[in-house]
Amino acid sequence: MYNKLESILNEAFKKLGYEIESKVVRSKEDFVDFQCDNLFGLAKVYHKSPLLIGEEVVGKIKKLSDFSYYFKSVEVAKPGFINICVSDKFINESLRGLIGSDRLGCTEEHDTIVIDYGGPNVAKPLHVGHLRTAIIGQAIYNILKFKGNKTISDVHLGDFGLQMGQVIYGLLHDYPNTKYEDMEFDLDYLNRTYPRISALCKEDDNVKEECHRITKELQDGKEEYVYLWKRIMKISVDDIKRIYKYLSVDFDYWYGEADAYKYFDEMIPYIESKGIVRVDDGAKIIDVKEETDKVDVPPLILQKSDGAYLYSTSDLATIWQRKRDFDPDDIIYITDDRQSLHFLQVFRVVRKALIYEKRLEHHGYGTVNGKDNKPFKTRSGGALKLEDLINEVKEEFVDLREENKHMDKEDLDKIVNAIIKFADLQNDMSRNYIFDIKKFSEVNGKTGPYILYTYLRINKLLSNNNGKLSDNIYNDVDRALRLKLIDVSNVIDQAARERKPHYIANYLYELSVLANSFYVENRVAGIADDVKNDYDIVLSFNNKVTEILLSLLGIYIPRSM
Ligand code: ARG
Repeated sequence: MYNKLESILNEAFKKLGYEIESKVVRSKEDFVDFQCDNLFGLAKVYHKSPLLIGEEVVGKIKKLSDFSYYFKSVEVAKPGFINICVSDKFINESLRGLIGSDRLGCTEEHDTIVIDYGGPNVAKPLHVGHLRTAIIGQAIYNILKFKGNKTISDVHLGDFGLQMGQVIYGLLHDYPNTKYEDMEFDLDYLNRTYPRISALCKEDDNVKEECHRITKELQDGKEEYVYLWKRIMKISVDDIKRIYKYLSVDFDYWYGEADAYKYFDEMIPYIESKGIVRVDDGAKIIDVKEETDKVDVPPLILQKSDGAYLYSTSDLATIWQRKRDFDPDDIIYITDDRQSLHFLQVFRVVRKALIYEKRLEHHGYGTVNGKDNKPFKTRSGGALKLEDLINEVKEEFVDLREENKHMDKEDLDKIVNAIIKFADLQNDMSRNYIFDIKKFSEVNGKTGPYILYTYLRINKLLSNNNGKLSDNIYNDVDRALRLKLIDVSNVIDQAARERKPHYIANYLYELSVLANSFYVENRVAGIADDVKNDYDIVLSFNNKVTEILLSLLGIYIPRSM
């Protein structure tokens, strides 16, 4: 519909001698469907009043022989808009096209895109930040895949950093005089050990140094440490997988930072051959500052003076590996916004050293805050463990109503997912948001449960239809719902283009509000068969759209609630 409207406008502008790519958007006014806001821009260029240009264009359009096929009315409105009301016929024709289309009418893309949205750290519990990465990243992955791209996700485990040296240090001290293979430990042990040794490092420089040494020796391949590392990995990664599975988050590749180390031997000499590395106090560093920088961008440390490698070097090698294995058109990173500087440095080195020439994107998200607007804490006030958050949401929802206590476990898990994900994804990801468990668990309001509930309510109404939508529209909410449905292609395209799932989440909410008023206002009982048939087609499509969009957000529908 948008394309058609814009091409009609373009044609009229062109015939009158105005060069412009017109843009049509939905109008917020009652009784106006669309508006075109281009008149002001044209007025500036052609030194004419916007209203005058508007009158000319509207005059041209009204003379079209198929005017009444497309329009109810086209008017100029002060101070300088063209207001458009489309015909019922045109709405229905567009809707029929959409119902028959493969990808809800969105444009197709065929890029190969690597998406990096995991980053959990082995041997440390997942925290709320990892939740945002996973939820937002998986949504972006799903959206880009839906558009036809070849998407490749990599969890990029943090599996080779200092925490590994710390846990191995813990093992060595908790099991003195024990053979490596005889050390018995489990997940619980790992969860306790990392915070304990990490605290010790802060108090005692000797312990810290020792942990650094172990980490370095592990990275260099010391056999005993690699043996322990593999066992720690197995226990921790199994647990990480369990939590991701709960969230319906998955990865095509389960690589980690350790896998990147394999490429250092090729990559480091290659970077050095570009003449961009300098030695500073024994460390190999690369300057990445640019004249136009408004903030200080420190050099990237390729290798520390003790020979150890850092986070940045492993990200460089990962890009090296991704180019080699996947030859992508784009690599997208979703992380906490506080990592922006890190990615800026890494991307600049990639360009300077000519490691990879295609697109690189980092999208940072804000923090999840509690009602006090400070970073979210669980009831116990302790560590911000992801699993605690999930459990708290579950309890809250179960306590809400008596029926919820007897809910099927699978359904309950789907609702918990919906609560958490919809709470997160309705916000522009770059902003912080307040996670109010109670509010987001309610079936009323802008929540996941509201959307699920609306879907199930509509689903009960559906019966068989003959698949033939007539040219009629029966009332205002019917019209509003159909127009909203037609918007779906644009919404998916915009979310994909800007890498922002909140457009889809907000659309879903608005669609559900309309579907609910439709339900309330158009009692289906007792209406004529042909009207019922039309309603059925519209509502089935409404639920198909809802189901697809929810799945793009990683939200799945329970059998009942
Ligand atoms: N492990 C990191 C952290 O928890 C996140 C990794 C993000 N991805 C990346 N390629 N650097 O902070």
